[in-house]
Amino acid sequence: MPLISEFMTSALSPRHAQRLEICYLSQINPDDGTAVKHGFSQSPKTLPPRYLYDERGSQLFEQICELPEYYPTRTEAAILANCVDELARLTGPCELIELGSGSSTKTRRLLDAYQALSPKLHYVPIDVSAEILVASARDLLDAYPSLFVRGLAGTYEQGLAQLGASSQAARLVLFLGSTLGNFAPAASDRFLAQLAAALAPGDYFLLGIDLRKDARILEAAYNDRQGITAAFNRNVLAHLNWRFQADFDLELFQHRAVYNRDAHQIEMYLDCQQACQVHLAALAWTAEFAAGESIRTEISRKFDLAALSQVLTQHQLVPLQHWQDAPQWFAVILCQRSAATASRDR
Ligand SMILES: C[S@@+](CC[C@H](N)C(=O)[O-])C[C@H]1O[C@@H](n2cnc3c(N)ncnc32)[C@H](O)[C@@H]1O
Repeated sequence: MPLISEFMTSALSPRHAQRLEICYLSQINPDDGTAVKHGFSQSPKTLPPRYLYDERGSQLFEQICELPEYYPTRTEAAILANCVDELARLTGPCELIELGSGSSTKTRRLLDAYQALSPKLHYVPIDVSAEILVASARDLLDAYPSLFVRGLAGTYEQGLAQLGASSQAARLVLFLGSTLGNFAPAASDRFLAQLAAALAPGDYFLLGIDLRKDARILEAAYNDRQGITAAFNRNVLAHLNWRFQADFDLELFQHRAVYNRDAHQIEMYLDCQQACQVHLAALAWTAEFAAGESIRTEISRKFDLAALSQVLTQHQLVPLQHWQDAPQWFAVILCQRSAATASRDR
């Protein structure tokens, strides 16, 4: 297999060229806007959360991770720092694959632990936000001289379909940051079924999840005082403006994030302050917004550990061990793909 993918479009520096492959999967399956048109035809209007992440959205998310109110990143990082050696002992050497890898900052703890186990270090980050994927891969190659990176720039579905043969006897798929919480239950079931089907029996899945807690803590985390989350939320419209040549006026939309206690999820909205029409030229399509109408841009489900463990087991992803912080705000679960065939039709 060539080290530089035929789908590579950006220039690589010579010192990285032999250890970096980037596949631009979204160039093979370009975004035709179907999901946007579908979401804007719903009531309330919705958008897939992946549109929150273009280059600017990823930069804003990195700033969110540093906010005092946003506890998930530092809590999960602390759990990982404490558990990675035990984790690596449990799994043995693995190829590391990461879904929604972003800056791969927390991944460094895992790379440290797996590097100590085996000189062969292979990492496959998958992220829809190509700029942060490539920049993070380059930083990792500088920090880890024996590392090989095969970055897949595309959606989770596109990336999982392109895994190919493993470079190690086993694989460990990372899904950190409680990103699973962005899926509604039915979509989560479809995602877990696809993941289980992509893994071989004996492979591992490491999942970081945000747990249920006082609504005031949750709402503060998504309504920070500096307004970074509001800028991140509004940026979804700037993303649609460049991707689909749309004409959203960002000033007309206001950020709102609330905890829905019945559904156990944070819901993030953009509330339209004034009736308007928005034309998406690349889709030859116009969307109407009434004054006071909302677009739901993200859900972030907060999990019950026991209930989620059952769901994972139903998908042949059997929890082996989990680690938590002392106040039990966040958990990291290690699962193993069981030998039974995963059901795809849940
Ligand atoms: C909540 S952030 C988490 C980033 C990082 N894993 C962490 O724990 O800090 C979600 C990441 O997933 C990526 N992402 C969102 N939707 C995606 C999708 N449908 N397919 C692939 N990547 C996606 C985003 O670009 C972003 O980097």
